[in-house]
Amino acid sequence: RQLHVVKHPLVQHKLTLMRQEVRSTQGFRRLLNEVGMLLAYEVTRDLPLEQVEIETPLAPMKAPRLAGKKLVFAPILRAGVGFLDGMLDLVPSARVAHIGLYRDPQTLQAVEYYFKAPPDVAERLVIVLDPMLATANSAVAAVDRLKERGCRELRLVCLLAAPEGVERFHGTHPDVPIWTAAVDERLNEHGYIVPGLGDAGDRMFG
Ligand code: PRP
Repeated sequence: RQLHVVKHPLVQHKLTLMRQEVRSTQGFRRLLNEVGMLLAYEVTRDLPLEQVEIETPLAPMKAPRLAGKKLVFAPILRAGVGFLDGMLDLVPSARVAHIGLYRDPQTLQAVEYYFKAPPDVAERLVIVLDPMLATANSAVAAVDRLKERGCRELRLVCLLAAPEGVERFHGTHPDVPIWTAAVDERLNEHGYIVPGLGDAGDRMFG
């Protein structure tokens, strides 16, 4: 069970701006993209490298480049899409798997309405993106679905998590490490993270 809380000052600063109720849709979206880029930097920190022969204008040399297959970003719609652009700016060759889930407002169960992944997704490192880990029903359902497709190497990136969500997620998928900018106090009776930042999907898309 790995939980990485990213304490980088730029991440913490941007998260504070996003929490503020006064933030506009435009500002929120932009910040989520920026934080996405910074979290992509953190979650890819240990990717394996291989040495290749290259030529500089002056001499040949051996130099490191990323080894193995390109990774896959798997945003959970809608809010996960807010992370995606920033992450793709940093890792432009990544593939993308779209996972459409909504939370039933009564039961809080995740309901799937879309799933489209690259055919060889099982052979790649998959990074699941969802800004909010509340009950974790959505993240658990997304990882269940990816494991059904044969994925073995998975990571989860969120912006905010509730302690209940971390517990439930790792109770079901202890092999999937989590990166988040903060673990908040608790979930309220409607399944919202408190103090949190409200509903990320609504704040970004209206
Ligand atoms: C919200 C949020 C997460 C999920 C987190 O999505 O964006 O995807 O709930 O909650 P959980 O951990 O309890 O599953 P929502 O269902 O509101 O859909 P949206 O992103 O399309 O607004």
